[in-house]
Amino acid sequence: MTEKRILLIVSGGIAAYKSLELVRLIKRQGIAVRAVMTKSAAEFVTPLSLGVMTEDQVYGDMFDLKEEREIGHIQLSRQADLIVVCPATANIMAKMAAGISDDLATTILLATDKPVLAVPAMNVRMWNHPATQRNIAQLRADGVTVMDPDEGSMACGEFGPGRLPEPPDVAARICAMLDHPFDAALTSGRAPSTKAATPLVAQPDFSDPAHRPLFGKRVLVTAGPTYEAIDPVRYIANRSSGRQGFAIAQAAAEMGADVTLIAGPVHLVTPPGVIRIDVESAAEMMAEVQKALPTDVAIMVAAVADWRAANVPEQKIKKDGAAIPPLMLAENADILATLAKHAQRPKLLIGFAAETEKMVEHAQAKLTKKGCDWIVANDVSGDVMGGANNAFHIVTKDGVESWPDSPKDVIARKLMEKISDAV
Ligand SMILES: Cc1cc2nc3c(=O)[nH]c(=O)nc-3n(C[C@H](O)[C@H](O)[C@H](O)COP(=O)(O)O)c2cc1C
Repeated sequence: MTEKRILLIVSGGIAAYKSLELVRLIKRQGIAVRAVMTKSAAEFVTPLSLGVMTEDQVYGDMFDLKEEREIGHIQLSRQADLIVVCPATANIMAKMAAGISDDLATTILLATDKPVLAVPAMNVRMWNHPATQRNIAQLRADGVTVMDPDEGSMACGEFGPGRLPEPPDVAARICAMLDHPFDAALTSGRAPSTKAATPLVAQPDFSDPAHRPLFGKRVLVTAGPTYEAIDPVRYIANRSSGRQGFAIAQAAAEMGADVTLIAGPVHLVTPPGVIRIDVESAAEMMAEVQKALPTDVAIMVAAVADWRAANVPEQKIKKDGAAIPPLMLAENADILATLAKHAQRPKLLIGFAAETEKMVEHAQAKLTKKGCDWIVANDVSGDVMGGANNAFHIVTKDGVESWPDSPKDVIARKLMEKISDAV
């Protein structure tokens, strides 16, 4: 079977950074990707980043003689089986609908005879504008496949249709158009979008979206344990069930936040209205946390392994009757401390401290050492890990607030109320 190829045109919207993730997912499906960027797109994501992901030159300038001599704009479209415009700005779709070709991207789009998929992303008012709706109707009439955008809170603080569909959903659509099998497992555990069709389904308490206390806020939550491989079949783990983090993510969604939940290996149902990303190791969690920035609030509930095996052999370690193999450990990078120093530090950064003794004392030390805003200390000496209840001590620079033992969903909601008062 010959390798399928797409030409990805990235136009200049805030969601342009998601094109990097899309390239990764598409390549994992065994599809080759070549990329073209508009001039505006390069304001949002660098050609260097996109080039690293595609492992190829990124094309942008129609009048770059070297590019035109080596591979002209006609050839760029001819070599692809499908052209994907993602994200598609209101501007590029207007130009496509009108047949304007004033840069490399739009010239390719006018010159091609290949199928075209446009994946729009824009502010809800731009999306709802009669001109945009007219252009989309025209594109569809011209045979362009235009995906419907997702609905939800936007980077601009508004709410409604216009968000870029999640990259796994775009990847699935690309595979369908190419008649190429889509393997969901190759989306690296990133579950397909679980956002409820209408986010209000997840927020029964607040009938008017604008009245929800965290409306327009982005909240990042980590939950569960991490697994650190010893060899291909064995791992180091801890007893975290993920229940407290999931309850917090659910409470945040109910209060109107746009929630990303990065979960270690757990057996829990994704709360409605929450985007869930599954990871296994501390390193994977660190990478996904950084990808999820910027965010207004980050609540780091996961029980991230402090250590991993220093060397992980490719084959299973054999029990051959000789000496017991030593387990050498290496320290994992500290996600909380990394976020505290990050250029895109969340406005409110909250760490969790699972302690078995001297809870408040240890939490106060952790607050200073990690550079976060609050530490939620909980006593894990009983059956808290995996149990139904929890008691919190909220340690801030202003003092300590202690909340009694309560069901995890009740205490999650109380924490989110305190957070919504603070942001
Ligand atoms: C911060 C910022 C974010 C923007 N986000 C979007 C967006 O998400 N969708 C969109 O259609 N336009 C967006 N725009 C406007 C486009 O960048 C602008 O229309 C530009 O001309 C698009 O050029 P292109 O279609 O050639 O890439 C944004 C502009 C700025 C400054």
